[in-house]
Amino acid sequence: MASCLAPVLLLLLLGSPGSAARNRCVDAAEACTADARCHRLRTAYVAQCLGPASPGSCPRARCRRALRRFFARGPPALTQALLFCPCGGPACAERRRQTFVPSCAFSGPGAAPPSCLASLDTCERSRVCRPRLSAFQASCGPTPSASDLCHRDQAPSCLRAYAGLVGTAVTPNYVDNASARVAPWCDCVASGNRREECEAFRGLFTRNRCLDGAIQAFDGWPPILHDQLDPHQDPEHSLLQVSSADRPLVGSSLLSMLPVLALQPLL
Ligand SMILES: *[C@@H]1O[C@H](CO)[C@@H](O)[C@H](O)[C@H]1NC(C)=O
Repeated sequence: MASCLAPVLLLLLLGSPGSAARNRCVDAAEACTADARCHRLRTAYVAQCLGPASPGSCPRARCRRALRRFFARGPPALTQALLFCPCGGPACAERRRQTFVPSCAFSGPGAAPPSCLASLDTCERSRVCRPRLSAFQASCGPTPSASDLCHRDQAPSCLRAYAGLVGTAVTPNYVDNASARVAPWCDCVASGNRREECEAFRGLFTRNRCLDGAIQAFDGWPPILHDQLDPHQDPEHSLLQVSSADRPLVGSSLLSMLPVLALQPLL
């Protein structure tokens, strides 16, 4: 744990506001920590997703429910910043990939991914998953027009619908720390004569220029972080805007964040 923690601490100590090497996924995590509701909901899903279960397993259903709750009840500006924080390097992208405890929420139980047809089938039988997948298809699906990029004003609803899938049978995640490519935990290797159908479903995530464009253009950056980058703004004003805390925030010091750092490699 200590060896994982050291780079995070170092980043925090070295990273001055506005520095080019800023890890925006760390920024997003700090912004969530500073907000009572975001922090509470995140702590809840981490506790569920790392909770005790039989060896080599995890309470996947409870973990996923807690994740859905995080996105349903958390402040969208903060929950989406955690999901879509833009990264310029592998450290940031690795953290982004790990944020929603993929070892429990995304992959498993087996070592090999299931067929996407099985995942799709499970989703369509689920009253939770099915409407969310439909919403995702409607909001991020390819348009019949010549350009398959989505409309500029379509991007927010596409990202919202994508976030709605986190914690379902087709939970997507970033596939590596070298790109912003996403996919659900499944493949089409053994899809036989339904290969095309399988690829079409998987392609909703892996070959979707509308979704890719929306993720790349993500700028729903919490005001709290803009303030850190722009010292001319009145910080209290924006802190109150973004905070759902019962009491007003009085700024966060590095010291107040230290207890949280112990959890950060997992968040
Ligand atoms: C990026 O992913 C590779 C392959 O999984 C891994 O070996 C490497 O340590 C990761 N990089 C970081 C910065 O975590």
